[in-house]
Amino acid sequence: MAKAKTAYVCNQCGAEHTRWQGQCAACGAWDTLGEFIIEPARAASSAPKRAGYAGQVDAPRITPLAEVAQGFEARSLTGIGELDRVLGGGMVHGSVVLVGGDPGIGKSTLLLQMLGTLGARLQGLYVTGEESLAQIAGRASRLGLALEPLKGLAETCVERILEHAQAARPQLVIVDSVQTLWSEQLAAAPGSVSQVRESTARLVRFAKGTGTSVFLVGHVTKEGGIAGPRVLEHMVDAVLYFEGDAGSRFRVLRAFKNRFGAVNELGVFAMGERGLREVPNPSAIFLGAHNGPTPGSAVMVTREGTRPLLVEVQALVDASPLANPRRVALGLDGPRMAMLLAVLHRHGGSAVYDQDVFINVVGGIRVQETAVDLPVLLAVHSSLRDKALPMKTVAFGEVGLSGELRPVPNGEERLREAATHGFERAIVPRANAPKKAHHGSMEIIPVERLDQALTAAF
Ligand code: TYD
Ligand code: MG
Repeated sequence: MAKAKTAYVCNQCGAEHTRWQGQCAACGAWDTLGEFIIEPARAASSAPKRAGYAGQVDAPRITPLAEVAQGFEARSLTGIGELDRVLGGGMVHGSVVLVGGDPGIGKSTLLLQMLGTLGARLQGLYVTGEESLAQIAGRASRLGLALEPLKGLAETCVERILEHAQAARPQLVIVDSVQTLWSEQLAAAPGSVSQVRESTARLVRFAKGTGTSVFLVGHVTKEGGIAGPRVLEHMVDAVLYFEGDAGSRFRVLRAFKNRFGAVNELGVFAMGERGLREVPNPSAIFLGAHNGPTPGSAVMVTREGTRPLLVEVQALVDASPLANPRRVALGLDGPRMAMLLAVLHRHGGSAVYDQDVFINVVGGIRVQETAVDLPVLLAVHSSLRDKALPMKTVAFGEVGLSGELRPVPNGEERLREAATHGFERAIVPRANAPKKAHHGSMEIIPVERLDQALTAAF
């Protein structure tokens, strides 16, 4: 019998080392290496490597792609429209989906609701390592789900979970959460990178081998990644993140990776008395409530996934007592904000080097596209000068380093959305302005440079 092959894996960053050492050479943390079996002792059998996709029974061979039977992947609609949209048209059988998000955002609630709506049509199993079965059952009845078809298992050892799953043959397994799992093969503590990684690898093999869909709940670390730095993201088929303000009832589910659908697709939910409710037409929910013109606020039309959304960007610019004034961006890319502020100084004539600058996207959602550049600078300029943008004005556009405004995709669709919601003026890059005016009474102001945009806006 061949000796088991082991590696030493850092619990902090997941780096592998061939020998134990006191300090991780990759991240510099002390005393974080744990022993990790990468190939079990039964090395003669190649079974783990052969765990291919469901249906792949023959030994792998080189095949011309033209001869590969294509058949579309089998899917089931979950019955929750916004979740199906983010998954790319329903749950793919045999796929592994990781659902991440801050504690208390609603991950367990969403997955339990999904199990509830699917329960009538297929066999599901809710594996809990965080809450007791009594808590899960209590929540299910509060959510108004039919309890009869729902099955639960309170277990954290991945080998025993798989034994139960192999016997009960569910079509859907929900594991809440992946951080509580541990494998008998490893000595490391539950929640450590090696345990999380090994447990996930086993669940992935199980999903692919049996065609069972597996949903894993993962907690987000302070740095914003799912604990078990990045390693999990590579192992699973889809990664969905739950976002939202603690203070707001709206929640956004975003596909961050999806092997079976588009990424950056958004699903919007509202948390209420009876769990998460879909918001199928979310366009205007990310606007602040203002009764009159407000300095430091600008409204943009962002296009996330396949839907345009109206989003309010707020800025607060205030004299700073610090030698290095503060730059805080919530819902935006921090380094890009620093670049935009430099462009504002050079090409817009507004200096903020002695000011603290705070920027926030209302509703706790993240805007990842460059169309947010112009609204950010309008909001900053507005706060700095304490002058409000006129009411009913939207803006979008990418700002270049030389102060030019670049067009963004789907300009017409964004303008139509703003017109539908009663906006009266739009400041947009020239190339995004429609050739003929057909947006009702909305006035469209095409601009080529940042200074023109500022003059047009104020
Ligand atoms: P939960 O799904 O437990 O969050 P996570 O699994 O992501 O940690 O949801 C937590 C919050 O949602 C909790 O603070 C209570 C709230 N909530 C409601 O407002 N209404 C409900 O019907 C439910 C079930 C939860
Ligand atoms: Mg939970």
